[in-house]
Amino acid sequence: MSEETRFGLEQPFFLHGGDYNPDQWLEHPEIIERDFELMDKANCNTFSIGVFSWTKLEPSDGVFDFGWLDNILNLCEKHGKRVFLATPTGARPAWLGNQFPETNRILKDGTRARWNERENHCYTSPVMREHAARIVTRLAERYGNHPAVCGWHISNEFNGECFCPLCLERFHNYLKDKYKTLETFNQAAWAGFWSHIYTDWSQIDPRDCTLDLLDLEWKRFITVCTVEFMKLETDIIRTYSQAPVTTNMMGFYNGLDYWRLAEACDFIADDCYPSWDKEEPLKVGARVAMSHDMHYAMKNKPFLMMESCPGRPEWCVRKMRRAGEFEREMLLAIGHGADGTMYFQWRKGRGGMEKFHGAVVDHDGSNRTMIFKRVADYGAKLKTLAEIHGAAIQADCAVISDWESRWALMSTFGFQGAPGQEKENDMPLRHYSALWGCHVSIAVIEQVCDFSKYKFLIVPSLYMLKKGVAERLIQFTEKGGTLILTNMTGMVDENNQAILGGFPGNGLRKFCGVWNEDVDCPDPGEQTVMLNGFQLNERNSFPVTGRCEIIHAEDADVLATYGLDFYKGYPAITRKKAGAGYVFYIAADLDEEVLTAFYKLLLMNLKIKPLLPGLPDCVRVAKRSKDGHDYYFVQNFSNELQHLSLSGKMMNIWSGNAKGNKIYLGPGESTILRA
Ligand code: GAL
Repeated sequence: MSEETRFGLEQPFFLHGGDYNPDQWLEHPEIIERDFELMDKANCNTFSIGVFSWTKLEPSDGVFDFGWLDNILNLCEKHGKRVFLATPTGARPAWLGNQFPETNRILKDGTRARWNERENHCYTSPVMREHAARIVTRLAERYGNHPAVCGWHISNEFNGECFCPLCLERFHNYLKDKYKTLETFNQAAWAGFWSHIYTDWSQIDPRDCTLDLLDLEWKRFITVCTVEFMKLETDIIRTYSQAPVTTNMMGFYNGLDYWRLAEACDFIADDCYPSWDKEEPLKVGARVAMSHDMHYAMKNKPFLMMESCPGRPEWCVRKMRRAGEFEREMLLAIGHGADGTMYFQWRKGRGGMEKFHGAVVDHDGSNRTMIFKRVADYGAKLKTLAEIHGAAIQADCAVISDWESRWALMSTFGFQGAPGQEKENDMPLRHYSALWGCHVSIAVIEQVCDFSKYKFLIVPSLYMLKKGVAERLIQFTEKGGTLILTNMTGMVDENNQAILGGFPGNGLRKFCGVWNEDVDCPDPGEQTVMLNGFQLNERNSFPVTGRCEIIHAEDADVLATYGLDFYKGYPAITRKKAGAGYVFYIAADLDEEVLTAFYKLLLMNLKIKPLLPGLPDCVRVAKRSKDGHDYYFVQNFSNELQHLSLSGKMMNIWSGNAKGNKIYLGPGESTILRA
């Protein structure tokens, strides 16, 4: 099968189902039998099987038992269920961890972890690799062409790191391959600082935070190791099976550069557990929508929401999903490019720490629970959406959220902990969220992506510039794009070394006509921004929420200035015409509401229209298109009824609340409109 056809989710319908762990129920055949009846009742068609089943498959070293899995896969085939067959390497059998303690990770403090829990094996250990390769080979040989197997689920939520001597040696070899000589590495790491010049590779300890390049390289290395381990498994599978492979990601998990993992996948799968009760629904929604938009952008193709919770995750003992919330979460995923939504898990287990984690089938075992009914109703409606399956998302606007730049910023001493300073993805999220409020489609990309397909590009705090990126940003603008740069952009290179010659570096200072001299982090209320000759939300002054860069407009129009203190009157927002486009520099951290108003104004000038006109502020919309039809996913993030007036001919293909060109969305309610 060609690479082209190996890609992913080309079932003729949306996937709906979840993690199914029959290996935990083998002593209860009547329950397994009942599962298959209930699966039909729940309108579920697809299951991830065997995720944590290693001990059941290989009860002792080299002794295998596939009988039970043969039986389950045959039942799946008989009942028309699709399977993502998992490799079980996310959790090791006790015999493996105990017989071969070198498969257990060494923690940062130098102690050897016990084998317990999961996703805690050393990726470098030859014994681990050998055992993983053996079980994966057995599975791939046996089930590579099984008619029920529509794809492979590699391990489970890869994460973590190991500091064992083998991993450290691997790290040193990784550095050797990259830098060739110690002298080059010492220069890249600015090793003269605190006399850290290395005279032997083995002296390099990634836990020493004196040189911040070490932390950055360690994180890169962990991604390399993880991808390598994943490839060990996928290469075997690809020898025996034509079904596509994936692994389940965790949104913006900081520990791995998911774009590199994405390269090893045939299609993208993500797990998504929003806590709707912890923050304003729109805030939670923005984070989730942003993650979905990134997972779509990774292959520019639909992805799979591999895990979500139909009820209440056990690690969050608070509120149950409110009316509408469940469906809103599912349609948020589909609207933003998912071609399937699945759950963790199908049936609640009787024991273990997740026994009360929300699942489709509860301990009572019936189809009468609220959650079961909800899942079944949603599944039934999902069947009617087959025409949307595979539909594409076309975005004119993009936001950059880049792992390596974030890692560099977070590992730079002095940039953590001051007021207003972000954690991980905060700045890209704030700008994404502001743009989401403009009701447009957004691609969430990394800095090495192609910018040329967009018209409007926001670059929030892109602290590290990789080679060639500044040039591509300039090119993008000069060809007619509108570029937004914000504070903390272009300060270091790929070695986390400050760029000389004034920030933003690599030619961006001259290009945007702004020199960033320094940065202030005032407390809330200590600084304001005053607009020059225009208003946003009928106001011309706004509080600053965090960082304030002291910038000089060397060759740019000043759109806003600071209002207080010793830098009162200094520019806070600038604009410069560059070729056929414009570059804006936002030096101050502003809240989302101001940013939304600002972006609305810019988009209007660019004639980038909202996907639907006149939407209330608390409603969001996403669009997918296929075969000449546009599908609008309209979602109410408030607790009040919302009325929408639609222009043109639209068909409400999800909920019944429509009258002529009027749509009513109840609290938290969602619908889909076809144009
Ligand atoms: C996921 C994990 C699942 C299950 C779930 C519980 O992160 O992949 O196996 O533990 O969390 O919420």
